Amino acid sequence: MSAQPIPDVLAFPDAFVWGAATAAFQVEGSTTSDGRETSVWDTFAARPGAVAGGDTGDPAADHYRRYADDVALMRSLGLTAYRFSLSWPRILPYGTPEPRGIEFYDRLVDRLLAAGIQPWATLYHWDLPQSLEDRGGWTARDTAYRFAEYAETIAARLGDRVASWSTLNEPWCAAMLGYGSGVHAPGRTSPEGAVAATHHLLLGHGLAMDVLRQHASTPSGITLNLYPVVADTPDDADADAVRRIDGLQNRLFLDPLLRGGYPADLREDLSRFGFDAVVRDGDEAVLGKPIDWLGVNYYRGYRVAGSARPGSTPAGREWPGADQVHFVPDLAAPRTDSDWEVHPSGLTASLLQVHRDYPPVPLYVTENGAAYPDTLRDGEVSDDDRIAFLDAHLRAAHDALAHGVDLRGYFYWSLLDNFEWAEGYAKRFGLVHVDYHTQQRTLKRSARWYAEVIARNALG
Ligand code: FCB
Repeated sequence: MSAQPIPDVLAFPDAFVWGAATAAFQVEGSTTSDGRETSVWDTFAARPGAVAGGDTGDPAADHYRRYADDVALMRSLGLTAYRFSLSWPRILPYGTPEPRGIEFYDRLVDRLLAAGIQPWATLYHWDLPQSLEDRGGWTARDTAYRFAEYAETIAARLGDRVASWSTLNEPWCAAMLGYGSGVHAPGRTSPEGAVAATHHLLLGHGLAMDVLRQHASTPSGITLNLYPVVADTPDDADADAVRRIDGLQNRLFLDPLLRGGYPADLREDLSRFGFDAVVRDGDEAVLGKPIDWLGVNYYRGYRVAGSARPGSTPAGREWPGADQVHFVPDLAAPRTDSDWEVHPSGLTASLLQVHRDYPPVPLYVTENGAAYPDTLRDGEVSDDDRIAFLDAHLRAAHDALAHGVDLRGYFYWSLLDNFEWAEGYAKRFGLVHVDYHTQQRTLKRSARWYAEVIARNALG
């Protein structure tokens, strides 16, 4: 068989969306301004040892005050879309609408529209108001209804000015890291809590979809973090490890959203943590309301085994019921500054998994990116490692298109260096370098590279 020639130039479809993403708590700063309520992340960051370096949500990238300059930066890069999140504690502190918080997003959206950039707004990127956490947080069913109320407050105001609405970002992280392993806010460690939070987040998604439909005719969807999972060996025990991890990470979310119900094997695995008790009759119909698009956040893949292997790590508390599973490192893979293995082909695999196993739905890569130990020298950040990462992942995205995946856009994570959750400010993911003392922005070499790709709508 003769090898297929690899084309020099990989063109993306017309109207392919080229964006960059951020999240409110990670970039805004100004955590006590304009009536904002404390969020679970403020509380968590104040807990000694919870966040590297004792970092908090201030100053972040001061985007709350510098948003206009940041939109100008986006424009200079030719971005066609900006994915950001709305802050529930700014918009509805203690359950009461706060005009100053709402007006911030009003101004941001108008500024984006004036610059010809599509506003992509996510309702929830992990910053739950603390007063709701005090009433049980996502382990309480009521939080899903409060979420719909919050969605109503802001969707009624922004409506169709938002080009694309998203309900949740990565409910797996919010539930499993927030309530299972406690590595993220609110820092609880209970498998029952993680399982209840999973369902209530998805219930909130379904309720919010109805609200979005009432107030916006623009498309609405949700973002998941998907990981392709492969077995270390063909053993049955390793196959079961794949079933469990693929189940908890991917199918637990994809199936109710796209197939109308939770997978039977997971219902069984999770029943000992009270899953059946939290999923009430009729809930799955709410969760499974049609979505207009699915966002895929992709960072890396997993190799798993049903028992310990050399160098492997046992599954932690973020994997309820998967106690026997071990994660096996890929020693050949390069690593980012977050120590995450770089697996570009896993992006193709994740997109293909959705394409092959689920009913058709337009897909967007809503996050993909990497932290590297950037240095600012003589006004330059020469992040060739990030360019190589981006190039490889965009090729992988293109490969998915070549396999018939309905992929409509790509958002780099992140526009700006920012507060990387439990890692604080130490990990820099931005296309734009941020000096946290002066708030000076510097375009990294990768930003200029990405701008060229966008301008050509092609790689190579
Ligand atoms: C994702 C989060 C995002 C960012 C990246 C690196 O899981 O959605 O906020 O922290 O990881």
